[in-house]
Amino acid sequence: MAFSLTQLIAERQNDRALLHQRYVNPKLLRALDIIGFNKTWVRGEGAYLWDDQGERYLDLLSGYSVYNLGRSHPVIKQVIHELVDLDRPNLVKMDCPLLAGLLAEALVQRMPPGLEAVFFANSGAEAVETAIKFARAATGRPRILYLDHAFHGLTLGALSLNGAAAFREGFEPLMPGFDMVPMNDLEALERELRKGDVAAFIVEPIQGKGVYIPRDDYLPEAQRLCRRYGTLFICDEVQVGMGRTGRFLCCEHWGLEPDIVTLAKSLGGGFVPVSATITRRNIHEKTFSSLKRCQVHSTTFGQNELAMAAGLATLYVMDQERLVERAAVMGEKLMAGLRALQERYEMIAEVRGKGLMIGIEFRPPRSMALKAAWAAAEAAEKGMFAQLMVMALMRDHRILVQVGGPGVNIIKLLPPLIIGDEEVEMIVSAFDAVMAEAERLRGRVWSQSAELIKHAVAP
Ligand SMILES: Cc1ncc(COP(=O)(O)O)c(C=O)c1O
Repeated sequence: MAFSLTQLIAERQNDRALLHQRYVNPKLLRALDIIGFNKTWVRGEGAYLWDDQGERYLDLLSGYSVYNLGRSHPVIKQVIHELVDLDRPNLVKMDCPLLAGLLAEALVQRMPPGLEAVFFANSGAEAVETAIKFARAATGRPRILYLDHAFHGLTLGALSLNGAAAFREGFEPLMPGFDMVPMNDLEALERELRKGDVAAFIVEPIQGKGVYIPRDDYLPEAQRLCRRYGTLFICDEVQVGMGRTGRFLCCEHWGLEPDIVTLAKSLGGGFVPVSATITRRNIHEKTFSSLKRCQVHSTTFGQNELAMAAGLATLYVMDQERLVERAAVMGEKLMAGLRALQERYEMIAEVRGKGLMIGIEFRPPRSMALKAAWAAAEAAEKGMFAQLMVMALMRDHRILVQVGGPGVNIIKLLPPLIIGDEEVEMIVSAFDAVMAEAERLRGRVWSQSAELIKHAVAP
């Protein structure tokens, strides 16, 4: 009998949770259950997901920014079908294939001046590992500096650049000499750079965890200091690049000219894992420094045809649909709507972001009764109020969002860049409703809190 994926899915759909319970990650399954996210998803299109009950959900997680074009984009689908049908000579390996050259050319055209050599891999973390190795090879120096709250991936090198203890615990010792500096503190940065042993300073121009935006002078000054002390300046654009913040690269907001840029996530159009590390030619040449070393850094699936075709199609769609501009316009509208709510709800401390990378930070209420409820939730687990908001948006409004990071009362919105006025209205009115609910002590938000507290104190 022929293999049919459609049939397999239909026959085994109801086994999904059981399979994960047995063979994959039961702790994740349980956590999703508790927060109301344990659904059987059956379809994704544009900005929406559908579950097996036929309910539609607005997806503001976007696969952590993989779905900038929305899900199941017809152009990406068509190009993938086309590629498969072409029987291309994929992964010859002893080869310099056309599509990789074309995607490299298309990316370089979108980079700040001087960035003209591209290395392809499969994930954001690999792009960061590449940046670390290239920086060491180019400078002959061992150390890398990163910011508090930073997130650059979870492989060992990238984890050594992680600003949250929650991710590092249990995996130490990490890379020696990879040291954290506080954001917006130029003196602390210069103190480290002056030691003369720092290969690179890596930043997310807007941080993914917490949506922290540096002070306006910080990144340009940091770049200038790096130049002065011979340290490379790396912008990790894995999450904020590809138009997310209303510019192709987020670092364009400050006119930065980094030495290395990393991209991944939505570069594969939502279908194919792919990443790119884009550098100055002289940095690239310090790694691939002789004929003997021409493959000294590589990965088996780098430059694979499926990823390259998806990347080319993604850039084409971004241009055709003017998604970078759209992210800027829709981001303004969404932030204006959310900021209007801030004036009405005291628990909204700040709405911040650029384009469609938006963080909403909460603060404790002033009313005595609510204050006690907030304190009980926070005592059980830091950042619990944000988790309660995530749960309420899912339960009552079928909107998927995420908490902004470990232990913070921040919600992060990463809508697909294709959203329109209809989605902006849905999001703002859903937030309005959940904030109103959170002001009622006997409302559903706080009754859910008691449930969560039980789980938080359980081992
Ligand atoms: C800024 C940044 N860098 C690197 C990574 C790691 O990417 P990946 O999960 O594809 O390894 C992420 C993932 O969220 C990220 O946000």
